[in-house]
Amino acid sequence: MLTNKRILLIIGGGIAAYKSLDLIRRLRDQGASVTPVLTRAAEEFVTPLSASALAAQKVYRDLFDLTDEAEMGHIELSRAADLVVVAPATADLMAKMAGGLANDLASTLLMATDKRVLIAPAMNVRMWEHPATQRNLATLKGDGVLVVGPDEGNMACGEFGPGRMSEVPDIVAAVGAALGDGPLKGKHVLVTSGPTHEPIDPVRYIANRSSGAQGTALAAALRDLGAKVTFVTGPANVPPPAGVNVVRVESAGDMAAAVDAAPQADAAVFAAAVADWRVLNASGSKMKKDGSGKAPALEFGENPDILATVSKRTQGRPRLVVGFAAETDDVVENATSKRKRKGCDWIVANDVSPGTGIMGGDQNKIVLISDDGAEEWPRMGKDEVARRLAQRIADALAG
Ligand code: C5P
Repeated sequence: MLTNKRILLIIGGGIAAYKSLDLIRRLRDQGASVTPVLTRAAEEFVTPLSASALAAQKVYRDLFDLTDEAEMGHIELSRAADLVVVAPATADLMAKMAGGLANDLASTLLMATDKRVLIAPAMNVRMWEHPATQRNLATLKGDGVLVVGPDEGNMACGEFGPGRMSEVPDIVAAVGAALGDGPLKGKHVLVTSGPTHEPIDPVRYIANRSSGAQGTALAAALRDLGAKVTFVTGPANVPPPAGVNVVRVESAGDMAAAVDAAPQADAAVFAAAVADWRVLNASGSKMKKDGSGKAPALEFGENPDILATVSKRTQGRPRLVVGFAAETDDVVENATSKRKRKGCDWIVANDVSPGTGIMGGDQNKIVLISDDGAEEWPRMGKDEVARRLAQRIADALAG
C-alpha cells in the first residue's frame, strides 16, 4: 500500500499518456495522493480536466502561472512529494533531464526536486534505440534516477520492439519499490556478477567474456522490488547499479572472501562468471622473454567454488540459492546435473555458444531449472529476464 504517500506525476507528451490517467487511479487506489503536472505536449494527448478529475487535485501546467506561484511556488511543488514519477518519459523529457535543462514547468521541477525520480520511458523503438537516448538513459541511471520499462511489443506507430510504456501495475509496483515498499522490503539479497581476473603477473591476467550485464540488471531489479542488495562484482563492462551496496573484486579468491564477509542473506544469486582455475605460480614482477624460445610454464590450481560452498553451508545458508550455468552444449542436461552437484535451489541456464550473441549481448534466452523441472523462457532483453527473475525470487521468499 502507498497510504499517505505523495506522488508528483509528470505526464509527458506521448500516446502512452492515456495510461497515465489510469495510473493516477491505481496510485490513489493504493492510498497515495497524486499531483499531476502536464507538459504542453501532454495536453495534446490528455486533457488537464481528465487528469484533475481523476486526481481530485489541481493540475499544474505552466511555469509562469502567477496564481500558482502565489499559492505554491515551483520549488515547493517539487519538494512537497515523496516521489516524482515521469510517465510517459518521452525522449525529449529524458534528454532535458540528462542535460539539466529547465525551460518549462516539468523540467524545472525535475531540476529543483530533492526527491527520488522514477521514469517510465515510452517512445518509438528507433527513438529508444537511438544512441542519444541510450546515452541519456545511462546518464540518468548514473544520477540515481529509477527506471521502469520500457516493455517490448507492438507500438501505436505500427512498429515492434522496446519502447512501450510499462503497464500500469508494473509502474505502481516500481513506485512501491522506490518508496521502499516492494515485495522484497526488509530482505537482503547477495548478487555476484561479472568476470574474474586471475593474475599471471602484475600486468597480465586470465579473464572471460562476461560483461556483467545480466548480474547488474538483476541487482537493479531486486533493488526495485525493495531488497537491500549486496553486489559483489568482478571487473565488468557495465557500471554497477545505483542504490546497491557495491563490493568490487578482481579474482575468484577475492570474490569468495567478499561473499564470506557479506551479511546474512535471504537469497543469493551467483551470476558471476568465475574462473575455475588460478595461476599458482603467478609472478610478482613482469615476466620477460629470456631469449631461449621457451614459453613460461603456468601451473594452475582450482579456485574455490563459491556457489557450491554457499549452497552446502550448514549454518547461514540463504533460503534461496540461485546459480547460473553458461553452457555451449546440451544446456538443460548439463545445467540439471550442475544444480544437483552444486546443491543450489535454482539454476538459470543459458546457451552461450558464439552464434547466440548472448555473452556480452543485450538479450538472453534462459531455462530456469528448479525442483519443478526445466522451464524454458522466450528470448528477451536481459533487463526483462532480470525483472522476471527478481519477481520469482520475491514469490519464493514470500512462500
Ligand atoms: O561450474 P560453472 O562455472 O559452470 O558454474 C556456474 C555457476 O557457479 C555460476 O553460478 C557461477 O557464479 C558459480 N561459480 C562460483 N564459483 C566458481 C565457479 C562457478 O560461484 N569458482
